[in-house]
Amino acid sequence: MSWKTLDDMDLDGKKVLVRVDINVPVEDGTVTDDTRIQRIVPTVHEILERGGTAILMAHFGRPKGLVVPEMSLGQIAPAVEACLARKVHFIDGNYGARIGELEPGSVALLENLRFNPGEEKNDEGFAARLASLGDIYVNDAFSAAHRAHSSTEAIARLLPACAGRLMQAELRALETALGTPKRPVVAVVGGAKVSTKLELLANLVEKTDHLVIGGGMANTFLAAQGIDVGKSLAEHDMTDTASEILEKAKSVGCTIHLPADVVVAREFEAGAENETVAANACPADAMILDAGPNTVKTLESVFETCETLIWNGPLGAFEIPPFDTATNAAAAKAAELTKAGKLISVAGGGDTVAALNVSGAAEAFTYISTAGGAFLEWMEGKTLLGVAALEG
Ligand code: 3PG
Repeated sequence: MSWKTLDDMDLDGKKVLVRVDINVPVEDGTVTDDTRIQRIVPTVHEILERGGTAILMAHFGRPKGLVVPEMSLGQIAPAVEACLARKVHFIDGNYGARIGELEPGSVALLENLRFNPGEEKNDEGFAARLASLGDIYVNDAFSAAHRAHSSTEAIARLLPACAGRLMQAELRALETALGTPKRPVVAVVGGAKVSTKLELLANLVEKTDHLVIGGGMANTFLAAQGIDVGKSLAEHDMTDTASEILEKAKSVGCTIHLPADVVVAREFEAGAENETVAANACPADAMILDAGPNTVKTLESVFETCETLIWNGPLGAFEIPPFDTATNAAAAKAAELTKAGKLISVAGGGDTVAALNVSGAAEAFTYISTAGGAFLEWMEGKTLLGVAALEG
């Protein structure tokens, strides 16, 4: 890893611009999950302990360069104050003057950067304006590092730049899971559509020993093998692509695991009447909503033979119980092996983390990424431009 960290920086008396990702869920003006805010605390506290002033820069939602009051970071500031356990000065305009008035050692939060049309265009002028507010740039927003925006990319070229502690932890975990992992490696990939995870699957067959495919996308793979999946969610126009991935996996020695048995129902709703059938026996009027118990047993024994697991996407319709059963059982097994020191387990992606949190397994995982899109792009093998800019 060739980027600098806080260890390389003299922070004493410096104004430190910190790009954070506090794009958190909010309902009726209240933050409903502050995980992302909690994760930036170590970096901010370290800056303050080492004599710096922390100026937090972030986005919220997608206001597309317009001032959208409902997307003001002002509503997130109280949650940031609570997590940091100190006053946060919210600055919604006249940046230079307001920052000039700050006592050294304070924390400030700038208004949603995406209210400025320059931010998403990676505009040099907007980056220069931000850079003029501080002495050092710290990027602690791995989950926004797939975006080349003024505050994640251009600014890194204008100031002494380094990775924050969260960025460092994310990169270290992902490197451990897929960069130079202990083998064998198993990847679990679920979710609705093959079409959104094509590049990811193509990269994973090259990099892993076992690839478990679950969720709606497994139905597309079953259909590619000529299996009738009834009314299941499946992309019938993607079956050739699915076949190519199966072929590719064979040629590079990656074992793909598809469900051998499945739980089917006639209604897509919590508690719907259901039955377990062989994967090739889905009734014409039913849909596959989860992997079955035999499939879970197989996955558990695959996990037992592996040293590293990387997980993105649930195995079934986890949001409507009981179709969360396979996801919960497989997650519990991964948690048990991790606790016993037998498995390194890393998971990421919005739905995944929600599913693992519900099952209670998340706490035992080696690392849970806070990233959604950035985690996917990283699993696809793409260079994250915000990370690349730090290497500069
Ligand atoms: C996220 O929530 O995944 C990040 O904050 C990035 O948000 P974006 O997809 O709106 O760029």
